[in-house]
Amino acid sequence: MISEIKTPFTQLVNCKLPIIGAPMFLVSTPEMVVAVSEAGGVGSIPSLNFRPAEEFEKQVKAIRAKTEKPIGVNLIVNKSNQRQKPDLKASLDAGVDLFITSLGSPKEVIKEAHKNGAKVICDVVNLEHAKKVEDLGADGVVAVCAGAGGHAGELNPFVFIPWLKANVNIPIIAAGGIADGYSMAAALTLGASAVHVGTRFIASTEAQVNMGYKNAILKSTPEDIVLTAAVSGTPCTFINTPSVKKMGDDIPFLLKTLKKHPLGKKLVVPLVHLLGMKKLEQSANQYGKSDIWCAGQSVGVINEVLDSKAIVEKFIAEYELAVKNTPQSS
Ligand SMILES: Cc1cc2nc3c(=O)[nH]c(=O)nc-3n(C[C@H](O)[C@H](O)[C@H](O)COP(=O)(O)O)c2cc1C
Repeated sequence: MISEIKTPFTQLVNCKLPIIGAPMFLVSTPEMVVAVSEAGGVGSIPSLNFRPAEEFEKQVKAIRAKTEKPIGVNLIVNKSNQRQKPDLKASLDAGVDLFITSLGSPKEVIKEAHKNGAKVICDVVNLEHAKKVEDLGADGVVAVCAGAGGHAGELNPFVFIPWLKANVNIPIIAAGGIADGYSMAAALTLGASAVHVGTRFIASTEAQVNMGYKNAILKSTPEDIVLTAAVSGTPCTFINTPSVKKMGDDIPFLLKTLKKHPLGKKLVVPLVHLLGMKKLEQSANQYGKSDIWCAGQSVGVINEVLDSKAIVEKFIAEYELAVKNTPQSS
């Protein structure tokens, strides 16, 4: 089996394989990060998976102690995240190699990370944002495409990846719907330097979610994935379970009306977010309690729970087959 695939991304972060175990709120664990990084990719975790901030500080050090390979941390960089500064500092002190930013301006993270020699890649869903982060000095862009788990983009990867490739000069990391080595080969063929894989790792032994959630990943079809703002106030992808169906595609009419007024907005936005997070936590952690499960369309190609090392190895075996069987044009 191939032991190394060199791309601009692997050279940037000094890893062997262009696979990022994407950060997933309530799902990623230190064990998953270590397993993916030790397998040759880059494991990553949202800092907010640990509360309070001191717990993150402790856990990021513990992850570092378990692997010398590159590791990643996801920071939410919008104003709602009060922990950006302390989590950035704790990550840099621990020696995190890669930051993945989402939902805001990565300016501060890029400045501080670069002082420490760490790299920063930023989630983007359109060219305008990609150009902005490139101008700020980002080391790469995560092209969040349609079908991704979480706050999915709207653009088709067959268009978005080449579109970014033609217009930015930093590595492009493909995200959305990639759950095997065949789609990884396609993404690299389109011009991506790495793949950012989320949903596939929910069905891993290291994911910290209950078996109800993992089984739902195995059983669901791409058509079961819906985008709804009803859970947290921000559109996000979920498996269309009875609870999600009941909630509909947006927050209740009364809250929506209140949200239109500046004062109401100040109350409604954090309240809906807080309640949504509670429901999500309950669904992820307590078996049989609730069924509000975030996932992307790649559920359609996920059929078994594997350990994270085996997932990376399967990707590489399939990638090798895909490359071998792709008809050459010349
Ligand atoms: C359950 C779940 C939780 C996620 N949480 C986060 C998060 O906390 N921060 C973030 O930047 N992206 C988050 N994402 C997005 C992933 O990092 C990644 O971009 C996405 O999963 C890629 O698409 P895929 O799921 O089709 O592989 C999440 C995705 C899922 C499925």
